[in-house]
Amino acid sequence: MKIPKNRIRRLRTFALGKGECEFTIENHKNLIDLCSNDYFGLSRDIDIINAAYETSILEGLGSGSSRFISGTRPVHKSLEKRLCEWLGYDYVLLFPSGFQANIAAVQGLVDRNSLVIADKLIHNSLLTGVSASGAKLIRFLHNDPIDLEYKLAKFSDSKKSILVIIESIYSMEGTLAPLKEIIEICKKHNARLLVDEAHALGILGPSGKGLCHQFSENITMISGTFGKSFGSGGAFLACKKVIGEKLIQTSNPFRYTTALSPSLTAGALKALDKIEHNNWGKEILDLSKKWREEIKKIGKYKIQGEYHILSIMIGDENETMRLQQHLEEKGFLAIAIRPPTVQIGKSRIRITIRKTLTGKILKKFIEALRSYK
Ligand SMILES: Cc1ncc(COP(=O)(O)O)c(C=O)c1O
Repeated sequence: MKIPKNRIRRLRTFALGKGECEFTIENHKNLIDLCSNDYFGLSRDIDIINAAYETSILEGLGSGSSRFISGTRPVHKSLEKRLCEWLGYDYVLLFPSGFQANIAAVQGLVDRNSLVIADKLIHNSLLTGVSASGAKLIRFLHNDPIDLEYKLAKFSDSKKSILVIIESIYSMEGTLAPLKEIIEICKKHNARLLVDEAHALGILGPSGKGLCHQFSENITMISGTFGKSFGSGGAFLACKKVIGEKLIQTSNPFRYTTALSPSLTAGALKALDKIEHNNWGKEILDLSKKWREEIKKIGKYKIQGEYHILSIMIGDENETMRLQQHLEEKGFLAIAIRPPTVQIGKSRIRITIRKTLTGKILKKFIEALRSYK
């Protein structure tokens, strides 16, 4: 496959800078991070780092094998139990990454005789899961319950099992799924529901339990990752016992991979304590509102979404790259998101709002956006 020249990506290396929200790049320039998903800055939290270190000493840096061989440590069991209690599910299984967990989720719920009806903007990992499962895929318009119901009525056939897939806060849009309506529609059409909570955990709901927490009875499975607000890496799936037991016996992405490292598992456990006992989600949402209002006041930028992911919509990919470059010259790392990640003509600068962003940083960023010609 020939990749057009303007779409060739280059891997850049970032060292951590001195400030809480700064990166340093190759040319030693400090850039303020407006793009990582480490919403609460927990990747640098000393208590979490210490918990990870202490567990490495006790239980090993790596787990050395898959969960079914000798890879299951006490810390895995502790985290799975804590997540069950936190989210109100019977069963939680850990995975080394959210990408892998999503493949396992879809493969665990459907096969080539099934139908998947998915929001148009779901993450690539979920689509990869659908391809791996062999299920037939139909897309519905983004966050449009009417279109979902129309597609369910049109394509469902009583012999096929149906799975609806959505995200709670969409990773590139910052939009929120109309969960209650989607649950009602799924119930009416006897469809199962898989929700990716990657960007909502820690942010939405009481003590950061996400969008789905009061609906565990009506949602077949949720997936969550520790790579975002938890500040580390690894992921999980949560579901009812009967589905969890099937997954543990049959899921290749669970069975045939080295278990999540004990240190990351301990880090996630400590992060969960911190997230649960703070109200950081609300702080971030208030801050996001402020950033959004200030950007809108400039009068020349269209922003998409409502939550802590702000997409400044530009459209043309080269133009979006030019804005990224300008922002970088002004001291900000705010990455251009372009096709194939988003549709052609929908390129944007995606900004993530994080706890450590001060009023001074916002002011400087607004000046940088104003000065772009
Ligand atoms: C919505 C969504 N789901 C899943 C993933 C994958 O998670 P991980 O980074 O843990 O593999 C991501 C990360 O980009 C994401 O944004």
